[in-house]
Amino acid sequence: MIYANYAATSPALSAAAAWELCAYLKETHLNAGRNFEGLEAAATALRARRAVAALFSASPLSVIFTNGATASLNMAIHGLIRPHCHVLATSIEHNAAARPLQALFQSGVIDLEWLPCDPSGLFDSAQLRAAIRKDTRLFVISHASNVLGTILPAAECFRIAREHGVLTILDAAQTAGAFPIALNECCDVLVFAGHKALGGLAGTGGFVLGERAALEMRPWLHGGTGSASDSLEMPDFLPDKFEAGTQNTIGVLSLAASIEEILRTGVETIRERDRKLTERFIAGLNGNKRVKSYGTLTAEHSTALVSLSVEGCDAAEVSRRLFERYGIVTRSGLHCSPLAHRTAGTFPAGTVRFSFGRDTTDTEIDTMLEALSTL
Ligand SMILES: Cc1ncc(COP(=O)(O)O)c(C=O)c1O
Repeated sequence: MIYANYAATSPALSAAAAWELCAYLKETHLNAGRNFEGLEAAATALRARRAVAALFSASPLSVIFTNGATASLNMAIHGLIRPHCHVLATSIEHNAAARPLQALFQSGVIDLEWLPCDPSGLFDSAQLRAAIRKDTRLFVISHASNVLGTILPAAECFRIAREHGVLTILDAAQTAGAFPIALNECCDVLVFAGHKALGGLAGTGGFVLGERAALEMRPWLHGGTGSASDSLEMPDFLPDKFEAGTQNTIGVLSLAASIEEILRTGVETIRERDRKLTERFIAGLNGNKRVKSYGTLTAEHSTALVSLSVEGCDAAEVSRRLFERYGIVTRSGLHCSPLAHRTAGTFPAGTVRFSFGRDTTDTEIDTMLEALSTL
């Protein structure tokens, strides 16, 4: 099998991380903060917080674990909005952000405006400046489109938003672990998925809070934390303020082990590997007249992802043929982002998405190109 669906999820843990998880399950599978033995689980969470904090130049206690980017976006959006505030978001957002925003808009809680990206997914930050009003409270932006791979100017937008007192949530599901990101340079809340480039188990993820967001964000998930148990209210200290209920300790451990590996390799090295793979793929597509690719078509401005369509063959059929004839795993359709496909002009037909990662090789890239030329 050739796996080219890293933008959806990483196929497997590294061998070292998998061994560590096995040992943990055999020896220490207990509940953080609820009893003495649980100290081991709390230590695992702290280890993971330190790894995430090192990756995003943040403070370990401001790292909150959830079951993924979707839960994190819901918590951050609901926790930061105030009734009748104005919210801005880009036109390439994933449904993980778009649906909670749309639901709040439809129920009259917020006023919502989508800011258009161009068909390749590029976003001009001048649009943000022009759209900010007195009552604008929140700006939601993806660091990179999960459909087009296009990188958005997060730091520039954050500077503009901050100048106007607007809070920024950055959906870094597609870039965390694959692209250098410093929390304080690009957002108030950085949302990450654990099971993509970060290499953790499915059902992991979280968010990291800057100082202002830590003060202003209200808990959305309420429940037991194993701390301040005499109170009916959530603790006001981090990370407990946002981590109610039993934690997914094995998932958090998978993140710790995997992110420590990423830190040892270096995000810059990973980015360079991704850039080269993407460049090779884009260059190889040039000779294929039946293929139309979307996005900026430059590895420099993109994650390790290329969306394309093949003349005369619908997206699902292309994916099916690639898998059945060559064992190549891609993802076709709308990729949970109708907004991005409308932006790119590929709605409702969708595209076939190739995305690369840790174990992708040059030979596999060449095989994928060869396969595309025979469809
Ligand atoms: C840009 C983006 N945001 C959010 C999500 C949702 O992530 P999770 O599966 O961790 O909830 C994804 C996953 O596909 C994504 O690509």
